Amino acid sequence: MMKFDASHGFLKEDIASYQSEVTKVHKMIHEKTGAGNDFLGWENWAETYDKEEFARMVSLAEKLKDKTECLVVCGIGGSYLGARAAIEMIQGLYPNTRTEVVFVGNTFSSTYMSQVLEHIKDKSVVLNVISKSGTTTETALAFRMLREFMEQKYGKEECKERIIATTDKSRGTLKALSDKEGYQTFVIPNDIGGRYSVITPVGLLPMALMGIDISAVMQGFTDAYHELNTDDLSGNDAYRYAVSRRILQKQGYNAEMFVTYEPQLRSLSEWWKQLLGESEGKDGKGILPDSAVFSTDLHSLGQFIQQGNKMLYETVMTVDTPTLDQSVPNDPDNADGMNYLTGKSLDWINRQAFAGTLEAHEVSGNVPNLLISIPDMKEHTFGYLCYWFFLATAMTCYMLDINPFNQPGVEVYKKNMFRLLGKPGC
Ligand code: PA5
Repeated sequence: MMKFDASHGFLKEDIASYQSEVTKVHKMIHEKTGAGNDFLGWENWAETYDKEEFARMVSLAEKLKDKTECLVVCGIGGSYLGARAAIEMIQGLYPNTRTEVVFVGNTFSSTYMSQVLEHIKDKSVVLNVISKSGTTTETALAFRMLREFMEQKYGKEECKERIIATTDKSRGTLKALSDKEGYQTFVIPNDIGGRYSVITPVGLLPMALMGIDISAVMQGFTDAYHELNTDDLSGNDAYRYAVSRRILQKQGYNAEMFVTYEPQLRSLSEWWKQLLGESEGKDGKGILPDSAVFSTDLHSLGQFIQQGNKMLYETVMTVDTPTLDQSVPNDPDNADGMNYLTGKSLDWINRQAFAGTLEAHEVSGNVPNLLISIPDMKEHTFGYLCYWFFLATAMTCYMLDINPFNQPGVEVYKKNMFRLLGKPGC
């Protein structure tokens, strides 16, 4: 399964010396006694999730399959990043599937929105709007424009089938609007915050509508829930990762670069950045989460990592088996001098790039590297890594005496923006 290796991490403390602290926090997580404990619904979600609602998602996806040439997913932050991470990781960036996915409601960019509306105008569209509050401005505005587009294209009656809302069970403007218009709704549980919500309808419904096997996702999540239900540091890699982060920060590293070697994991990095950044970055504490895709970014950020300010460490996620592979063809003229790689697989070459980079950054660059490997980029692995990172994040934050589940800081820009927009009452 998923493995963690701290042997390239330059850790100056023994991970095992944190055992008693980890045991204490493990209890806080599982007994739900820590700060923000009313948002720990993800912890036993593998047992408590609504099986009827799950079946409803599967059957809706089946029913809409032939109508969904383009799935438009409207949401931002925790109501967006997980679905994108999953779909890109599992299906790749240019999948051989009938349905295309477009993400909106995560920007105010007028050019982006205009191009999306033009791009989808002649396609058969299904729209999934996702917002717990229903009042998030980026999402609500995009939804208003898309609703107008959908009603003009299909009429109000057909919109009842083609527009699906994922929102609060009973409260909020989106729930009220959906009930009024007759849209189908799915629930964002009250006790699971946005960045922990990918394993609820927030992430699962877009995945299902894209043809992804969400049962396998939930099986992975459930397997991790059982396998990681131990406070024993020697048997819990998620906790070993959390402790390694803690040790490295004590050693003065305040930035973590999450590195992958697969472009289809770029959105997973964005999801990871929100999870760690929003959970940990408060009270003047936390490690700045950054990300890169190698070898692409070795030709840009690589210089900084190798020889720049020694402020960061890398967490490198590798994949044991790629989804697809190619081998290098022979060129009898060897015009490009690449024949020394004839017959080699691209994935093997990618692995040598990883090994060479690890050595460069570790040995001459003096940059600590934490290594995570995942077996593949399939559904089960995605579900598994969600629980793994949720648990690691909760452990990290509680060790720093931080509430992992709130995000008071994100309100500040909103207040200023509302004032400038002339929002009533602001
Ligand atoms: O993690 C979070 O809570 C945020 O990123 C929210 O998910 C995001 O702001 C969207 O909020 P809402 O679902 O209410 O539209």
